[in-house]
Amino acid sequence: MTSEPLFSALASVVGQAHILTDPELVATYEVDWTGRFRGRALAVVRPGDTAEVSAVLRLCAAARVAVVPQGGNTGLVGGGVPTDGEVVLSSRRLTSLTDLDIAAGEVTAGAGVTLEALNAFVRPHGFEFGIDLASRGSATVGGMAATNAGGVNVLRHGMMRAQIAGMEAVLADGSVVSRLAGVGKDNTGYDIPQLLTGSEGTLAVITRLRLRLVRSRAYRAVALLACDSLGDAIAVALRVRRDLPTLDAAEAFFPEGLDLVCEHAGLRPPFGASYAAYLLLECAADTDPAGGLADALLTAQAIRDSAFATDTAARQRLWAYRERHTEAINAAGVPQKLDVAVPLDRLASFVAAAPGLVRARAAGARTVIFGHLAEGNMHVNILGLAPDDERAADAVLRFVAELGGSISAEHGIGRAKTRWLHLTRSEADVAAMRAIKHALDPLGQLNPGVIFPVREQG
Ligand code: MLT
Ligand code: ZN
Repeated sequence: MTSEPLFSALASVVGQAHILTDPELVATYEVDWTGRFRGRALAVVRPGDTAEVSAVLRLCAAARVAVVPQGGNTGLVGGGVPTDGEVVLSSRRLTSLTDLDIAAGEVTAGAGVTLEALNAFVRPHGFEFGIDLASRGSATVGGMAATNAGGVNVLRHGMMRAQIAGMEAVLADGSVVSRLAGVGKDNTGYDIPQLLTGSEGTLAVITRLRLRLVRSRAYRAVALLACDSLGDAIAVALRVRRDLPTLDAAEAFFPEGLDLVCEHAGLRPPFGASYAAYLLLECAADTDPAGGLADALLTAQAIRDSAFATDTAARQRLWAYRERHTEAINAAGVPQKLDVAVPLDRLASFVAAAPGLVRARAAGARTVIFGHLAEGNMHVNILGLAPDDERAADAVLRFVAELGGSISAEHGIGRAKTRWLHLTRSEADVAAMRAIKHALDPLGQLNPGVIFPVREQG
């Protein structure tokens, strides 16, 4: 059947300029950032407001054409790219920023507002957003809510769901659900905004968010520390966390990743020698936290070398060693990206064992690990595998499950991890999730194949 009647109906809703069918224009929406997940879109539609999103979903439901919601396309589990003939609903035009409430520290943002644009809007008023990610220039708040994004400041402010005071979204049949009023207390039935947070575009298309903001801090201090083991780095991080409420970030990386970053970005290594583990700490406060951070580290025997920074440029230079891991890994090949969390007391054993588990299944593969230390959240990147060879991933994720961890700490399940969902969610959990999916999207219109394999949906 021809798609022309659907295209012209969609064009009459969003305007001809905002329905893309030319393969060259559609191409960038069809592949994810890593290059691992790619598919074919029937068309890309870019609605300009909630009413247009609703009309698009109604038309697609009537035509039985599935819809893949897409924000900044910075996801890492294939949850925002089409597979075969879906309509990609891009949020890029949903960029309104309204109703900044200085007293409450809240703002209403369209789903397509990037993290960078949100911060540019609120910073002049003394606020910033509590989540920070390396992909801040492209990641949108809608995508961050749909995936319950984490990032580098979770230890201080929590994940994305902690920042969400309200939400407006459109269900698969086009109906609009909204709780944007922003009253501090509201116990009136199921909390739909929290249900939709982390639902990865499978239950609704998020259109606007009422977001909690945090006060900007005037001073920041960063310490990059070299340690002889991850165990030592964990001990230092836990101690600083206990002593300094100003601690904003505690990130870990290792020599394999550091070498890759230095080579890719043309950076000089931070220290004269190589160490087994690196810990990056950042404190933020209303008064200069540098002295407090240095004092807290003074007695830590486990630190072999250190570098400190307070001004913006110097801090960014230290952060580059951590933040540029993702691009350096991608430049070395198409990675399989695992994003796991294990209890902190088992993290060092996990990191020690994971590369061996990979090598035993793929002798030539390279494992690059880095991540968010305070949550025991490590990004395990495997390079040099055939795209469909998941034996190494399977071994690592089973080990994570044995350790009592999570097979996806912050990136979500997407299409990449569906086969492992059962490792850390019970049959009853998955059945309840499927029942929710069926109740809100009985035709399986939204993001088929994400979270649950296609055959299990509906
Ligand atoms: C990060 O922490 O930098 C992100 O989760 C991206 C990644 O895992 O590559
Ligand atoms: Zn991360």
